[in-house]
Amino acid sequence: MATPNYTNTPFDLTGKTALVTGASGGLGSRFALTLASAGANVVIAARDAANPQLQRLQSQLQETVEVASVSLDVASQESISNAFSQAEDQLGPVDVLINNAGIAIPQTALKTDEQLWQSVLGTNLGGAWFVAREFATRLVAEKLPGAVVNITSILGQRVNSGVMSYAVSKAGLEQMTRSLALEWARHNIRVNSLAPGYIMTDMNRDYLQSDDALPMIGNIPQRRVGDPADLDGALLLLASGASAFMTGSTVVVDGGHLQSSL
Ligand SMILES: NC(=O)c1ccc[n+]([C@@H]2O[C@H](COP(=O)([O-])OP(=O)(O)OC[C@H]3O[C@@H](n4cnc5c(N)ncnc54)[C@H](OP(=O)(O)O)[C@@H]3O)[C@@H](O)[C@H]2O)c1
Repeated sequence: MATPNYTNTPFDLTGKTALVTGASGGLGSRFALTLASAGANVVIAARDAANPQLQRLQSQLQETVEVASVSLDVASQESISNAFSQAEDQLGPVDVLINNAGIAIPQTALKTDEQLWQSVLGTNLGGAWFVAREFATRLVAEKLPGAVVNITSILGQRVNSGVMSYAVSKAGLEQMTRSLALEWARHNIRVNSLAPGYIMTDMNRDYLQSDDALPMIGNIPQRRVGDPADLDGALLLLASGASAFMTGSTVVVDGGHLQSSL
């Protein structure tokens, strides 16, 4: 879906540099395009900067803004530090962080072994923390303001069967948002969460297009799953000065799903 032009609106990000983790995937790619449509220069990160999807995204973005592609594995602090240094060399300090990288490995609680638990919690919660810490450490050293948007999930607030590790990681990320908001307000760094409901991407396409998903979709008050573009408004709100007096908040974008019983 095309992105409108959000420059010269309250969401304007002209002059800002935004880093998106997991930008090779469905929501991350869309987030990068949306931030660019508000005038931000964008650092697109994935575990392998040579990822063809990331390269295609870079070509698309650089028609309108400055872009840097970096390799960033959220599970490796060395990789995170190197990625921020590369980003700064190319585009200057990073002002906006979209903590988007995440994985889901569906499994019942009894069959969730240590390796699965460590992968999901290490990526979705530990990884988000390591990236946020690197981001804030650099801004505090330079006395610069910033904004973090943590991508959580409605599964951080409600439960479903077979996704225990994922739900726990996202609930932890929501609590991390509130803790960091409290500690970092004095440094002019705002920290908020964007909690999507089911949005069709590679992470869930097979499930959402299967008959198994029909009862769940039928129970969403708006009777549909989301498109990545449905998150544009909430993302720009939390990333831009339009949310100058918001920190520690969660914006839910889910077609009303949190209000349903399934
Ligand atoms: N889609 C939904 O319905 C939905 C709903 C609620 C929340 N979310 C959240 O939204 C975020 C994006 O989801 P998505 O649907 O776009 O998923 P996706 O298409 O599977 O993309 C996930 C991205 O995360 C990256 N990634 C995975 N492990 C990583 C690591 N260790 N270090 C750095 N990057 C890593 C992947 O990049 P590489 O493999 O190239 O490194 C990929 O670009 C996730 O946090 C997810 O939990 C999604």
